[in-house]
Amino acid sequence: MTVWGAAAVDEAAGAGVVHVGARDVVTPLARERARELGVEIVVGSPTALVSPAALPTAGPPLATRPLPDPASVSARPGSAPRPVRPPSGALFRRGAPLAPSSGRPSPRRGSAADGRGGRVARVGRVVVVGAGNVGMIAAMRLADADTFDEVVLVDIDEGRAAGIALDLSHTAALSGFTTRVRGVGTVEEAGHAAYVVLTAGRPRTPGMSRSDLIATNAEIVGDVAARVARTSPDAVIVVVTNPLDEMTQHAWVSSGFPPQRVVGMAGVLDTARFQALASLAGAGAADGVAAWALGSHGEEMVIPLSQATAGGRPILERVGPADLDAAVDRARGSGAEVVGLLRSGSAFMAPGMSAARMVLAMVADRGDVMPAAVLADGSYGIRDVYVGLPARLGRGGVLGIVELDLRPAELAALREAAERIRERLGALT
Ligand SMILES: NC(=O)c1ccc[n+]([C@@H]2O[C@H](COP(=O)([O-])OP(=O)(O)OC[C@H]3O[C@@H](n4cnc5c(N)ncnc54)[C@H](O)[C@@H]3O)[C@@H](O)[C@H]2O)c1
Repeated sequence: MTVWGAAAVDEAAGAGVVHVGARDVVTPLARERARELGVEIVVGSPTALVSPAALPTAGPPLATRPLPDPASVSARPGSAPRPVRPPSGALFRRGAPLAPSSGRPSPRRGSAADGRGGRVARVGRVVVVGAGNVGMIAAMRLADADTFDEVVLVDIDEGRAAGIALDLSHTAALSGFTTRVRGVGTVEEAGHAAYVVLTAGRPRTPGMSRSDLIATNAEIVGDVAARVARTSPDAVIVVVTNPLDEMTQHAWVSSGFPPQRVVGMAGVLDTARFQALASLAGAGAADGVAAWALGSHGEEMVIPLSQATAGGRPILERVGPADLDAAVDRARGSGAEVVGLLRSGSAFMAPGMSAARMVLAMVADRGDVMPAAVLADGSYGIRDVYVGLPARLGRGGVLGIVELDLRPAELAALREAAERIRERLGALT
């Protein structure tokens, strides 16, 4: 299956016709562009003319998009164990394309493994800003996926970016990827990207909270986000730099991007930590645990146990409440625990893998639902602040927020987390 974007229609404008396969997907933006340019979209044979409106799309209007059965929602992390309400869709103008028309690299007519046994159309370039520990692991996973034409590492320490890139490129035969890897000193030298993973900034040192990083990292994140907006005006930015929720909102403001194209990574990592800890507590294999780490990436992290399952059954059937509470507490403090052991730098393997997983989920465009820092749109009674919520991801970023059936105390904790983030953002401005 190939996903046909607007750029493919632009390319075919001279010929006046685009031939697509019967199982291909034509994005809403491509259909809109075809109408504008008078390009016909032909399915199957050149004689079988099909109206663009009759084609399957990658993104039907959200309010009408049926949610998959909860059992089929992406399980790593967080298959929703209970029925979920549809995405609110309030982030979007109904029927609007998810990304502006200019410049998004069109999927190539090749395809690559999506890491789950399927194939996805290749994408041009992903840029990882910050070739430190987290950036290095994220870049490695992104190259390994063999989904992009190019992975580019950017760091103010240009030699580090180039060195990591060269080292990573030497693993091509070992991992079996054809993706090119480059390391440069600026976002501009990296060139236009479809996705940008933003890890530039300082990590914590022992005794520091993530919030202690806010002033230093806000300067870096604001500058990088503004540069990304100029170089790659249609990119999706995945923010990793801490303090995560505040930096994601800051990147959104600094980039001027629509909120669906700026998303923060923390919940995927925090959920993975809980899955590992619940497994140690007797819940069975870590990847058989489904849960959601929501709220803030820090003290106000919320892991609603009403939504957690192990082996498809409520997790409380396998692990006692005291042990589960201990697992939640330890997941909340896992970052500090790693910082304390390392004494220099913070966790990077699970964070780098988590960031790459989000990007690859977007590229695969399966509509996976993952916990992510997104701009709250009124769902859960929260609005206008970035906070960790279950988000449906697609090629253009966040497709919508999914509402879980939380208990009153869980909902209250989530709202409290949002308010604390809002307060810290107030101090930043
Ligand atoms: N969201 C999460 O779940 C999560 C998890 C772990 C780490 N983090 C955060 O991610 C960030 C990176 O962590 P790390 O361990 O990779 O740190 P690191 O120090 O190893 O790497 C950061 C890199 O950013 C580079 N950098 C600084 N300013 C830059 C700029 N303006 N442009 C380009 N590069 C620049 C530095 O030279 C350095 O190589 C930290 O803020 C850390 O707290 C977040």
